Amino acid sequence: MTRPHIEPYVELNEDYKAFGLPGFTGSDFKTLSLDPETGACSLKVRFNAGYSRKPGMSYSDMELFVLGGTMQLGDQVIGEGHYLFVPAGMALPAITSEDGCETLVFFNDAEPHWQESDEHHELTLKAGYVSLNTYKDAPWSGGSIVSPSVATGCMIKLLRYDPLTEAMTFLYCMTPEFMQDNISYHDCGEESYHIWGTSWMMQFGDLPTGGYFWRPPYINHGSFRSKLGCIALGRTDSKLHNYFHFNPWTNPSENLHRAASMLYRQRPQLFKWVAAHGGHNHPHGPVGQTAAVAPTDVAPTDVAPNDFEHVDYGDDPQVQMLANQVMRFLEADRSGHHHHHDD
Ligand SMILES: [Fe+2]
Repeated sequence: MTRPHIEPYVELNEDYKAFGLPGFTGSDFKTLSLDPETGACSLKVRFNAGYSRKPGMSYSDMELFVLGGTMQLGDQVIGEGHYLFVPAGMALPAITSEDGCETLVFFNDAEPHWQESDEHHELTLKAGYVSLNTYKDAPWSGGSIVSPSVATGCMIKLLRYDPLTEAMTFLYCMTPEFMQDNISYHDCGEESYHIWGTSWMMQFGDLPTGGYFWRPPYINHGSFRSKLGCIALGRTDSKLHNYFHFNPWTNPSENLHRAASMLYRQRPQLFKWVAAHGGHNHPHGPVGQTAAVAPTDVAPTDVAPNDFEHVDYGDDPQVQMLANQVMRFLEADRSGHHHHHDD
């Protein structure tokens, strides 16, 4: 299970609810998105004037972005535009908010959790802590951190990058009169909160100030426009690759097959390994690595995932040659020379 698609959702139209969990009394919340199995969620949280909590930690990674107002974090005052990534098990100092503040709060692994502690958990990955005034202490850079890239006029500030999953948290902005004509989808879940301004997408219309989406993988979005510009906080849950095209009628399944077709063409050995271990996508199933990666009795067009843009690519001689190559090292790994710890 993952979070359901919610787009567009304009939180400014909804009311706050009192936050009753330990560590949150004295604050109010709105749920932006929720994974009903793990409890992982994205929240807008208003810490009311006089809010106070003791030093403590959470069993979930937690991210916080200050939209307005100030908060006292130990000796530090953090305000508008401040971003925190707090690894699970890392104890924060006491938190107070004399005059109140509005924030976005993300619990990435589990439901909102806090328990009093002035010590870090022994397993915390404390080096992952990020504390940054994103408005004052980080420069805008071009949006082309991934290729193929968004159009010029979309810029970003990368706030956090997970080296294992390539998940990212970032600010992005669109210049006035921003436009991008193609349609986009990704392999990752993607999330955004509009801090200010309105952008438009062909499928979902205007996303105004306070607008939010949590969008699962392979869903078409774009083309894009922004008349007056906008600034937003964005997150992905894993690697962001921009699959661009111009067909507004494709569904997520067709988009996924097209993404798989790129793996089939561009990383054919990895594709065969994945297909062999996935089983159901492969005509032979997992009948042993060597056989499964060398389906020599099957025409490439029978196993090549469908690409709605290049329907006959499986007939291309170069694609067929790559798909029919048999790698022998897998067989060698299984019979004899054992070098791995898990043997
Ligand atoms: Fe996107």
